[in-house]
Amino acid sequence: MNPALEQLGITPGLLDARGFIAQHEAQHLQLAETGEDGREYLLTPATSAAWHSMKIAAQRDGITLVMVSAFRSVQRQVEIVQAKLDEGRQIADILTVVAPPGYSEHHTGRAIDIGSDDDTPELEVAFETTAAFAWLTQHANTFGFTMSYPKGNSSGYQYEPWHWCFAG
Ligand code: DAL
Ligand code: ZN
Repeated sequence: MNPALEQLGITPGLLDARGFIAQHEAQHLQLAETGEDGREYLLTPATSAAWHSMKIAAQRDGITLVMVSAFRSVQRQVEIVQAKLDEGRQIADILTVVAPPGYSEHHTGRAIDIGSDDDTPELEVAFETTAAFAWLTQHANTFGFTMSYPKGNSSGYQYEPWHWCFAG
């Protein structure tokens, strides 16, 4: 077990109880997009190609899909969990919204958090009210993307309508 997990209070018992699935960090990544703020979004080559095809198809239908998050290293996931601990949140509570380091689909370079170009806040359930979400529910599967964490998902995460993972 990664020693960082124990330091975050993520015990083997907690991992077993939730049945988290280990995810490996991608070895082959490419720059899929650069944000207006210069942030670089990395994905596997196949995911990047599928994302671009999907984004173009959405744009043809008048829908803008916005990249909010892509590849994340295990170390970055440690920092995200630690920041929430520093806010005073309990680890069991944190793990309903953030995966344990080593267990996030974002490590694989195949998961994308998607936003909308309207005023809807990013990474919130309100994303499900957007035209972008409606388009994704109709078309994302065609491009190989699945919403990993629907309501009542078996992973025990809160509903994440923005999180889509490419299988392939
Ligand atoms: N928010 C999802 C569960 C993650 O951290 O990968
Ligand atoms: Zn995500």
